[in-house]
Amino acid sequence: MFVSAEEMLKKAVAGKYAVGQFNINNLEWTKEILLAAEEAKSPVILGVSEGAGKYMTGFKTVAAMASAMIDELGITVPVAIHLDHGTYEGCFKCIEAGFSSIMFDGSKYPIEENVEKTKELVRICKEKGMSLEAEVGSIGGEEDGVVGAGECADPNECKMIADLGVDMLAAGIGNIHGKYPANWKGLSFETLDAVQQLTGDLPLVLHGGTGIPDDMIKKAISLGVAKINVNTECQLVFAEATRQYIEAGKDLEGKGYDPRKLLKPGAEAIRAKVIEKMELFGSVGKA
Ligand code: 13P
Repeated sequence: MFVSAEEMLKKAVAGKYAVGQFNINNLEWTKEILLAAEEAKSPVILGVSEGAGKYMTGFKTVAAMASAMIDELGITVPVAIHLDHGTYEGCFKCIEAGFSSIMFDGSKYPIEENVEKTKELVRICKEKGMSLEAEVGSIGGEEDGVVGAGECADPNECKMIADLGVDMLAAGIGNIHGKYPANWKGLSFETLDAVQQLTGDLPLVLHGGTGIPDDMIKKAISLGVAKINVNTECQLVFAEATRQYIEAGKDLEGKGYDPRKLLKPGAEAIRAKVIEKMELFGSVGKA
């Protein structure tokens, strides 16, 4: 059974730690993230982008797979399944598919339209006991073919969206998805601080968790960040471990070509990476 992210994030704000959202891409990802959370006794959020949902044949498949895994693996820690950067239409699909949490990325709309659409989703999510994440100021980098510039959100717009009753807010603070370029200026703590001054205890979300130095992560948590999204870093360690396996010629030894063997080093690398992040975010032992 999935839970909404509301309670786990409220606890994170109060306890000054962050819950990781780890994006899933397939069965191996889902399994390893769940096992990592159980091992670390940490709450966890499974992130599903629209592209990843489509890749896995649809949100219903994803929800059914993850939900069955929680049962079959005997997972006892709180698990939320969350739409990442959802379109307005995508949000409704996930509500129907049995997700426990959604993100409506209305950052591409004028603020008035973002407000209207978010308001409607707040109403529906409250009715269904789901949690809702909103976004102000686009997060830079490329995600599912959409390239953003890494803006800093307007704190007053953040307050406007926060007041609608969303459960968590992603505010752009110079963070971007994917690898950070060498000339990246770092997170804007000034913006984060200004946003938090106006939004109080509302859990803030840091996207683009890959490649942000540990000290910046810790500072962001101290300024109200309670959810941190990580995707690329798991992909990188998976690819690296798989490449090493192939380069060592292991797929040519015995039945090394069996996908259960071929994908194992990558899967183990994901689990180790997720546990490492949970330690950094301070969520270990909080479930
Ligand atoms: P990274 O891929 O940079 O870790 O970002 C993940 C993310 O923010 C998903 O919304």
